[in-house]
Amino acid sequence: IPVDEFDLVIFGATGDLAQRKILPGLFRRYVAGQIPEGAQIIGAARTEQDDAGFRDAAAAAIREFGSVPKGDPQLTEFLRHLSYVAIDAKGEDGWPALKQKMRGGVVHAFYFSVAPALFGDIAERLAGHGIADADSRIVVEKPFGRDLATARALNATLARHFDEHQIYRIDHYLGKETVQNLMAVRFANILFEPLWNAQFIDHVQITVAETVGVAGRGSYYDKSGAIRDMVQNHMMQLLCLIAMEPPYHFDPDAVRDEKLKVIRALEPVAPVDIVRGQYQADGEGAGYLADAENPDSRTESYVAMKVRISNWRWQGTPFYLRTGKKLRARTSEIAITFKEPPHSIFDDSGEPKANELVIRLQPNEGMNLKVMIKEPGPGGMRLVQVPLDMSFADALGPEGADMPDAYERLIMDVIRGNQTLFMRGDEVEAAWAWTDPIIAAWEEGKQRPEPYDAGSSGPEEALRLMHRDNRRWREIRA
Ligand code: BG6
Repeated sequence: IPVDEFDLVIFGATGDLAQRKILPGLFRRYVAGQIPEGAQIIGAARTEQDDAGFRDAAAAAIREFGSVPKGDPQLTEFLRHLSYVAIDAKGEDGWPALKQKMRGGVVHAFYFSVAPALFGDIAERLAGHGIADADSRIVVEKPFGRDLATARALNATLARHFDEHQIYRIDHYLGKETVQNLMAVRFANILFEPLWNAQFIDHVQITVAETVGVAGRGSYYDKSGAIRDMVQNHMMQLLCLIAMEPPYHFDPDAVRDEKLKVIRALEPVAPVDIVRGQYQADGEGAGYLADAENPDSRTESYVAMKVRISNWRWQGTPFYLRTGKKLRARTSEIAITFKEPPHSIFDDSGEPKANELVIRLQPNEGMNLKVMIKEPGPGGMRLVQVPLDMSFADALGPEGADMPDAYERLIMDVIRGNQTLFMRGDEVEAAWAWTDPIIAAWEEGKQRPEPYDAGSSGPEEALRLMHRDNRRWREIRA
């Protein structure tokens, strides 16, 4: 799909996200032929440097985080698109220079890759200096608030200068190929949707397990914890995509309306349905308290919970969510366990096994449907469960293996003006409205999270959540 000419300004261009994700992502799109000839990528930050300084730093970041070899001729070409303005977000310096750079008649996008405390200052100056207009787009990152009140305040700040159709709130999970594939699987096949409800689905497990800890970003993380960092946004989005009704069209508001209905239908979660954990040292590596540089922290680096959706489709089907740092393996997956057939015609002594559909988000993106078949051999009708395993890389060839990074996709969607994979303001607020009471109860109880060993599957207590329902967590493995 051709891309319109654009001027993209990255505020916070010297920061971590720009270096790790945004610039390498833009370079990959350049290699794919999607950066138009005249496109400008303008870095803006406090650091005083010239275009050459910014290009050198960008080249180093792209080489490092985009695994690009030194001397790559395409990288040299790409750098021509880059320039830099030193800007003071809280003052007036640099803004006239930025205005001068912007071309008329092209798409204008402003990426706020800065602390949310600066959103208001930047929005105000973009408007005040006449740099942004009614067609400009702004891109904002999480954390989008730390509770309902702050999210509302942020939305109000942005709304003073921009309309909702101009605001692109990123949840990078929505940019992941396999997350989008969830929608393709559900809504482009006749096979699943008729069974996709409480009558046929026993329960759903959503797991986002990470091996990394919080060292290096403890000061942010310790104020957030797993619920704010992962559940309110990424896991909530996954839950919505699994649980939502079919939108009438793959269109931004149609999709977001359906997601919002799921969030609004979430029941409050009782304390007995939640387990919080905090990793402790396992010999090698530090425990959470050292990584977070707060010896008395009660912040959770793991959370597991049983979530219920109060609507016709899902009455009686629990959704179990868990996410944590320093777990045994890095794996994100959604597992849908169907109910057992109502009656067995076989005199098979083996345990009946329910069909299961596992969608692996990362790594080794793919899908796996477990089905029962007859065990080969003349010895009667013995049943065995086998996987119908589909790795996207195997099925789609080298192109399937070359999954674009979430950011590449999302940045190009901004340029194309497609908000489908971005969160709407009301969605974010509804998610906080559900999360707030959970956090409030923890704060009131002053309860410490359960310790778990780094490199394990999480706290023992989390097993209880499942065992009391006669269910079991899937194993966490790569
Ligand atoms: C970020 C969180 O939003 O997502 C991090 O702040 C987390 O704590 C990361 O590690 C996970 O993203 P991914 O793409 O590596 O699964």
